[in-house]
Amino acid sequence: MNNIPFLDLKLANEPIEKELIEAATNVIASGRYLHGEQTELLEREIASTCQTKYCVAVSNGLDALRLILRAYIELGRLQCHDVVIVPANTFIASVLAISDSGLEPILCEPCFDTMNLDTRKAALLTEKHNAKAIMPVHLYGTPCWDDKLVSLAKEQDLLIIEDNAQAIGAKAQTAGINGTSTTGGLGHAAGISFYPTKNLGALGDAGAVTTNDEELAATVRALANYGSDRRYHNIMKGFNCRIDEIQAAMLRVKLRFLEQENSRRQIIAETYNNCITHPEVITPKIFKEMTQVWHQYVIRVPRRDDFMRYLKNNGIGCDIHYATPPHLQPCYPHIQTEPLPTAEQLADEVVSLPIAHPITIQHATHIAEVINNWGTH
Ligand SMILES: Cc1ncc(COP(=O)(O)O)c(C=O)c1O
Repeated sequence: MNNIPFLDLKLANEPIEKELIEAATNVIASGRYLHGEQTELLEREIASTCQTKYCVAVSNGLDALRLILRAYIELGRLQCHDVVIVPANTFIASVLAISDSGLEPILCEPCFDTMNLDTRKAALLTEKHNAKAIMPVHLYGTPCWDDKLVSLAKEQDLLIIEDNAQAIGAKAQTAGINGTSTTGGLGHAAGISFYPTKNLGALGDAGAVTTNDEELAATVRALANYGSDRRYHNIMKGFNCRIDEIQAAMLRVKLRFLEQENSRRQIIAETYNNCITHPEVITPKIFKEMTQVWHQYVIRVPRRDDFMRYLKNNGIGCDIHYATPPHLQPCYPHIQTEPLPTAEQLADEVVSLPIAHPITIQHATHIAEVINNWGTH
């Protein structure tokens, strides 16, 4: 078999290239490049996908999370320096959104089996630090949700802000505070990323906020547009975090294929799990009671350097998400945290295998076979 790259975005988008070009051409011809019909329709479609009443399409996933937090501060539901609990093994953007908003991130250990926030530990940290919000991250496309989060939200008045950057289309095993089990609609608000590598990726940067809270949605919308509620009338010191019409149009084309892409990824993940038998490779858990959307298929390999070298020598691309957790990044030298052995072990062991289109069952069985032969010759 030829070399298999970890991800080739040109190949990933190739089957729908014609539709993308047509949609981009229509936007160019329309003369409307911001605040147009494509954005409005995308917002409706994303709200429906996430089972929420409102969606505000914005510039990227980091801005989506920043806007939610800033909006809660503007609305008086969070105060500067309030503590927000966030998993320690997330992509840095989750933590950046919190610290950039003048709030204090407290990092919480994940579980080995879900690789997501340990909600029991999050509840303990909430009490210890008098936290006002929790940001569960649906890492790699696995929903981070359970009844503990529902009771924290309902009984302790905690805000639950989902980082849904990696999991659009996923479903948790239990319903969230709004009754739906779809990620993006589980908590009080959620931020989505449409970064090009995502299951629903734009051809540039884009993101969205989903929520059932009308006041929050209106505040996010105003903040994303210089803090103005109407033209040249600024009620808050806002930002420019708008989405382009072209990206909205690209996303609307790709949204039609999201379910198909997520199902394809589920089949590839099952194939890997069934076929990888090497004793030094720990495959991710498939949870029958949830719908995981496999933004990444992440195995754990304690002898990772040797393993990755071996895959590379055999023409198989792979990647690491993420090698350095936020608390060990140079930008957070003084972040307050207890020891985080699980997060650090995950950072040392995780390897992502190819899963995006056009990876097929044949590719996955070949990759599994190569993996199973690691160390035999
Ligand atoms: C978990 C997580 N949170 C936030 C982000 C930020 O999204 P963006 O890159 O669109 O700013 C990303 C993605 O890149 C992510 O993976």
